[in-house]
Amino acid sequence: MDMQTTPGAEEAGAFDLNAIGEDFLENPFPMYKALREHAPIHVNPDGTYFLTRYDDVMTGYRHADMSSDKKIEFKPKFGDGALYTHHTTTLVFNDDPYHKRVRKLMSGAFSPRQLAALTPVVEDIIDRLLDDVAAMGSFDAVQDYALRLPTEIIADMLGVPEAHRHLMHPYSNLILGALDPIVPADKLAAGHKAVEDFGALLLDLINHRRKNPDDGTRGEVLAALIFGEEDGEKLTDEELVQNCIFLLNAGHETTASMTGHGLATLLENPGELQRLLDDPTLIEPAVEEFLRLQSPLQIAHRKATKDVQFSSGVIPEGAFIHLCIAGANRDPDVFDDPENVDIGRNPNPQIAFGSGQHICMGNTLGRIEGQIAVGRFAQRFPNMRQTGEKRYHGRAKFRGLESLPMAV
Ligand code: HEM
Repeated sequence: MDMQTTPGAEEAGAFDLNAIGEDFLENPFPMYKALREHAPIHVNPDGTYFLTRYDDVMTGYRHADMSSDKKIEFKPKFGDGALYTHHTTTLVFNDDPYHKRVRKLMSGAFSPRQLAALTPVVEDIIDRLLDDVAAMGSFDAVQDYALRLPTEIIADMLGVPEAHRHLMHPYSNLILGALDPIVPADKLAAGHKAVEDFGALLLDLINHRRKNPDDGTRGEVLAALIFGEEDGEKLTDEELVQNCIFLLNAGHETTASMTGHGLATLLENPGELQRLLDDPTLIEPAVEEFLRLQSPLQIAHRKATKDVQFSSGVIPEGAFIHLCIAGANRDPDVFDDPENVDIGRNPNPQIAFGSGQHICMGNTLGRIEGQIAVGRFAQRFPNMRQTGEKRYHGRAKFRGLESLPMAV
């Protein structure tokens, strides 16, 4: 971006999250920088707040007077349909005590034992995908590689049979797509139907596993979710189904975005790729750096339940707040030389997985997936090269690549 188009105080003051253009979708970081510098507590024309400083985003995440409950916001949009049931039953859009209870009951699916069992499953999937792309020679690193791992892993976790796996990506797109600010009626109808169809499939799988508790295949966590108990309570069928659907949505595009960006970052920074090849143990801090620089979930949300003090002002009770993770992750008060990549960055307190009570439940799994997917790719194809322009899929909150043409 040249000097003339670099946003400053005026552009930051006029920022409207509901009217962003192609430039922003392609590269939002100059605007996040301007907002951090000139309008750290920015008010959008619709009255919602937009926070970009690390300190403020952390306050949003950790303050006791912040709510994640979206029942009021979702009602006019989703009515009584399946999308309403879905989005208001998932743990991410709920407060305590519901959130705490469901999170505890789901934690069995992410125990160290389950993660240890999942790691070789991830390695096997990656080795298979690497064989596939090697055979292709030229391929799209997003469609043919990055997107395939998380769908396979979550299908394994939920025990989804092979015949249904091709439906999972479209289901996820329709259900998450319904959270966009403007959704056409046909997309909304398709979103309701996706919840119903995927929910019916999951209920069948759950009922089958209930009758056959020991039949689970490698990496499956369904039994831990069904039989997990806290203080004599289990997840109800509705809670089970909706939160299993949520696992697909939460862990799918985010993970693909991390892998796609990880590969793109190495291609664009050959010196960093060489560092990684010389010292493969750098893959751990490298994945943290990919997540910091290109956070897959760029913007999360909270509502203030009381007046809350932030670094440069008070946000009033009832305000709807956008927490810009991607802006916080490039705050120069916290990160040296924040716009540049350093795969060995240490310390790196990036918050791509959020923070506080709702911190990502899949953060360890996501990190394992990123380290294996990018690390093994680089080791196997040290001469990897980009063969065309990368392209973004054009969503601001869940940001990611749609396409990254490569050859190995
Ligand atoms: C690189 C990959 C990932 C990123 C960047 C990511 C990011 C996030 C973020 C920022 C949140 C917090 C949202 C908020 O506070 O409003 C979150 C929540 C969550 N994520 Fe992830 N996620 C990733 C992968 C996964 C995976 C693989 C899974 C599981 C299969 C998963 C499951 C969850 C769940 C269940 C929550 C809700 C936690 C709660 O509300 O208590 N995520 N994720």
